[in-house]
Amino acid sequence: QADFPTTVGLLSPEEVALELDGDKDKKGGKVYYIDTNALHVAREGMEVLSPLKNGMIEDWECFQAILDHTYGKHVKSEPGLHPVLMSEAPWNTRAKREKLTELMFEHYNIPAFFLCKTAVLTAFANGRSTGLVLDSGATHTTAIPVHDGYILQQGIVKSPLAGDFISMQCRELFQEMNIDIVPPYMIAAKEPVREGAPPNWKKKEKLPQVSKSWHNYTCNEVIQDFQASVLQVSDSPYDEQVAAQMPTVHYEMPNGYNTDYGAERLRIPEGLFDPSNVKGLSGNTMLGVGHVVTTSIGMCDIDIRPGLYGSVIVTGGNTLLQGFTDRLNRELSQKTPPSMRLKLIASNSTMERRFSPWIGGSILASLGTFQQMWISKQEYEEGGKQCVERKCP
Ligand SMILES: Nc1ncnc2c1ncn2[C@@H]1O[C@H](COP(=O)(O)OP(=O)(O)OP(=O)(O)O)[C@@H](O)[C@H]1O
Ligand SMILES: [Mg+2]
Repeated sequence: QADFPTTVGLLSPEEVALELDGDKDKKGGKVYYIDTNALHVAREGMEVLSPLKNGMIEDWECFQAILDHTYGKHVKSEPGLHPVLMSEAPWNTRAKREKLTELMFEHYNIPAFFLCKTAVLTAFANGRSTGLVLDSGATHTTAIPVHDGYILQQGIVKSPLAGDFISMQCRELFQEMNIDIVPPYMIAAKEPVREGAPPNWKKKEKLPQVSKSWHNYTCNEVIQDFQASVLQVSDSPYDEQVAAQMPTVHYEMPNGYNTDYGAERLRIPEGLFDPSNVKGLSGNTMLGVGHVVTTSIGMCDIDIRPGLYGSVIVTGGNTLLQGFTDRLNRELSQKTPPSMRLKLIASNSTMERRFSPWIGGSILASLGTFQQMWISKQEYEEGGKQCVERKCP
C-alpha cells in the first residue's frame, strides 16, 4: 500500500537543464517530482500542479508520470501482471473514460480493467450498497445517492463550500490579526516567545528561488493544520454569546508565534452549515451541508428515500472538522420526514474516512461475483474502448 498526493512538482523548462539530483520522474522531456518527500524540497523554479480538475483527468502527461511512478516505485512489478481497478467522479465524461481505458490497455498492457464511481466504493467500504454519500473534500461538498451499487445521477447535488472555503477564511483571519504565515521551509531557527508576542525566528540563508505556486502550497499546509487543530463546528446554529464562552485553544505557528483562539473557532466553519451570513458570498443562494443532503434525497424516487435517510455515509477530509457529524446529525434529524429513520454512518477512524474508496475497492475486487465484471484484455481487443460504457456503467 502506498499513499501519496496527486499534487506533484514540475520543473520549469529553464531549470530542467541545470537539474542534477536523482529524486525525480521524467515524462515527455519534463521533470516531475512525485511523492510527499520529493514535493516538499524547496527547488528553484518548481511549480505545483495536479493532473485532476474537478475530479477528472485534465493533464494526461502528468497523470501518466504519476502512473509510471506508481508502477516503478511502489508496485515494482510489470503492469502487464496486474488487473487495475480505478475510481472516478460520478460526472466523469465518456471521452475521458474511454481514453483512460485505452491508455491502460494499449500503453500499460494491463490484463484487466474496471472503473468504479468513488461514492459507490465508499458505500461498499461502509457495508452498504444503498445510501447517500456525503463527501466534503477540499473544493466541493457533494451528495451522491447510491442505489443497489449504482449512482443516481439525477440526485447529485454539489456545493463549493468545503475545505478550501474554510482555508480562505482562515487566511482572512490571519490577515486581520496581522499574523504572518511562514511555512517551515523558510525557517532556520526560532526562539520560544510569550503568547501573542512577535515571533523570533531566523530565515534560512540560501533559499532557492521557489515558485509562487509552491510557496502557496506550503502555506496551505500550515493553514490546513490550523483548521484541523483549532476549528470546531458549533453543535447548534452559531450564537455570538455561546461562541464567546467557547473554551480557547492554544496554537503555535511554525515560526513560533502563538496565541489563543476562541469565538473564531466556531465562527469560521459556521458558513458550511449556514452560508447566509458569510461575507463575500453573493446572495444567499448556496446550500449548507444539511440542505445539500436533503435536496439530493428529495430529487430521488420517493420509494428509495427511506433507504437513503437510513444510510447517510459521511466521507472526505473536511468532515473530520470537530463537531461536523454532530451538527449534521442534528440538522438532518429536524428535516427527516417522521415516517423515516435517520442514520448517519461516519467511521471514527481518520484513516477509514480518508481511504474509504480504497477500502471499498479492495472489498469489491475480492468478491467472487466481481471476477466476471472486469473488462478483460480480450474483451477490450474485441470491443474497443467503447466497452467501458457497457461494462462499467
Ligand atoms: N483532521 C482534519 N480536520 C479538519 N479538516 C481536515 C482534516 N484533514 C483534512 N482536512 C481538510 O480536508 C480537505 C481535504 O479533504 P480531501 O482529501 O477529502 O479532499 P480532496 O478529495 O483532495 O478534494 P475534492 O474532493 O474537493 O477534490 C482539506 O481542505 C483539509 O484542510
Ligand atoms: Mg475527494
